[in-house]
Formats: sequence, C-alpha cells, structure tokens
Amino acid sequence: MTLNNTNPMAAIGQNIQRASRLLSGGKLVAIPTETVYGLAANALDALAVEQIFSVKNRPHFNPLIIHIGSSNELIKYVTEVPAAAQRLIEKFWPGPLTLLLPKKENVPDIVTASLPHVAVRVPDHPLTLKLLQMLEFPLAAPSANPFCYISPTRPEHVQQQIGEKIPYILDGGPCDKGVESTIVGFENNKPVVFRLGAITPEEIEEVAGEVKVHKQTGRSLLSPGMLPYHYSPRTPLYLTDRVEELLEKYGAAETGIITFHKTMDNLPQEHLAVLSPTANMSQAASNLYHSLHRLDGMNLKRIIAEKLPEKGLGKTINERLKKAAGRIVAES
Ligand code: TXA
Ligand code: MG
Repeated sequence: MTLNNTNPMAAIGQNIQRASRLLSGGKLVAIPTETVYGLAANALDALAVEQIFSVKNRPHFNPLIIHIGSSNELIKYVTEVPAAAQRLIEKFWPGPLTLLLPKKENVPDIVTASLPHVAVRVPDHPLTLKLLQMLEFPLAAPSANPFCYISPTRPEHVQQQIGEKIPYILDGGPCDKGVESTIVGFENNKPVVFRLGAITPEEIEEVAGEVKVHKQTGRSLLSPGMLPYHYSPRTPLYLTDRVEELLEKYGAAETGIITFHKTMDNLPQEHLAVLSPTANMSQAASNLYHSLHRLDGMNLKRIIAEKLPEKGLGKTINERLKKAAGRIVAES
C-alpha cells in the first residue's frame, strides 16, 4: 500500500454559489479582482481569517484589506468617512483604491493587526462583485501568494503557489490592472498614500487635493506592503537602466530579461519579456507579475529588469521591481 500525503489541488471554476458555500462555511477561496488574485475568508470570522495567515505563512503584524460589495456597506465597518475619502469613493469605487479608516468594533483584531484603522475597498471584478453581493459578510483578502513572493494575476499562479492548501479558485481570467490597489489614509482630512498602486498619486490629487506620499522609514510597519523585501521571485533579480551592459556581463544562456518596450535579438526569445511593445504603462503593469512568474519558472540564474520612466504608473512598477530585487543591490 502506498501512502499519499499530498493534498489534492484546488478546483478551479466560475461557480460563485460554490465559492459562497465554502466561504460561509469558514473556508478559504481565491478570488479574482482587477488588481491581483486575493485569498479570501469571512472577515468577521476570526478563525476563518486565521487560516489566511497560515496558508500564506504571513506574520500576524501584517493587517488585511476587507472587500465589500458596494460603498453603501462601508458604514457598517468604519466610524468615520472624511470628506476627501467620500470624494475618492465616488470617483474610484469599484476600483483599485484602498482606504484606511477608523474601524468599528465588529472588525476582528486579527484583520487589522489590532490597529485602530481598517483597510477597505470595493474591487472592480464582475464575478467577485456578484459574490460579495450574495454574501452577508465582507471578505478579508490579501494577495493569494506565499508571504513575500510574487502576487498572482492568473488562476494558474494561485494553483502553482498555494493550490494544495485551498479548496477552490474562482476563475476570473487574467487581472486587468496587474498591480495592487493604492492605499490611502488621512491626516487632518488630507490624503496620504501609504502604498503606490494602480491609481497614481496625481489621480488622487485631482479629486482630493494635495497628497502626501508616505516615505518608507526604515522598518516602519505601518503598511508592511512597504517592507523592503517583497514581491520577490526565487531567481535573483537586478533592476537597471543599463540592460545591454548587464546582459553582456552575464551572457544570455541563463539570463532572463524584462524590458518596458524594447525587443532584443541577442538572447533566446523565451528568455525575454517585453512588458508593452507600444510603451503603454497600463499594459506594462498588467503584464508585470505574469512576466516575473514565467521567467521565475524557467530556473534561470538571474533576471535583469529594465527600470521604467519614473512617472505615473512607472513609479509603481519600479517600486515593485525594486522590492522584487530585494537584497540584490539594484545596479543602475
Ligand atoms: O489590490 C489589492 O490591494 C490586493 C487585492 C487582493 O485586493 N490586496 C493586497 O493585499 O494587496 P495585501 O495583504 O497583499 O496587501 C495589503 C497591504 C499590506 O501591506 C498591509 O500592511 C496594508 O495593506 N494594510 C492593511 N490593513 C492595514 C491597516 N489597518 N493599516 C495599515 N496598513 C494596512
Ligand atoms: Mg501582497
């Protein structure tokens, strides 16, 4: 007799009734959003939420975003909505904007890491919105990757990374935005960006007035998405604006390359990921994590990524790549 200790992989499908049954029973389900896939649990059930931390191997000091089906529900979970937040909600929800607001007591401490604020957003994905509108509770959902690894933007990324630990992946196709939501808090009614994301500080500013972008101070844990090592592939990654030079130094045989829009013919084409042939930032963001997943799966010795122009979404992409480079000193 052979013993089989491996768990079955997650089922993948578009059945929101099945997702709803599992979530109502305290189980985890991976859900699509417009940014990245989330690993969801009933946000009001501390035991269900606890499983998120163990599946992701995520430290408990790192709080979770709660996802609601409509802005009308916000007031169930927060005590106060500043005027600037209200304007941002009207413009960006459903969408990739997470707001940090003072929490009500019904939000369990495990969700907020005992902080006085809760992070909330209405995701813009038709399947997940339908699911949320069916449920009687909000969904706590971090990105559905093991702690510090690359966020998933396709169901197969979730399956590869944590498929044996969860029962179901709701398949909503590839994520449209491809980078996480922008996290915004408020100081004296003024918006402060705590994590760069799919909406740029300039876009926030247009709606809510002057914006402060929180600078990372050492190991500040205010928003651990700002930890220096995050979003990392297993393959060492270099971030540079001198791709050709580094390629020459290391050789093409065991090197993956990520460029913004440039094609290169001096390496095997499957080693190359061009984020947007037409130099479109949104398309580049949308392809970023998939490119990292694909090249990381090739067992190369290194990945060399080209820095994007430091403006708009380019800043978000560069920031993610810098964190993916982790301990490797970014050469530029
Ligand atoms: O686009 C997204 O935001 C995706 C999708 C699934 O919604 N979610 C996501 O979650 O990126 P996660 O857990 O990977 O990142 C959430 C970030 C973390 O860095 C966390 O520290 C911060 O939000 N955060 C959550 N609650 C917070 C709070 N109460 N105070 C400060 N930061 C908070
Ligand atoms: Mg994450």
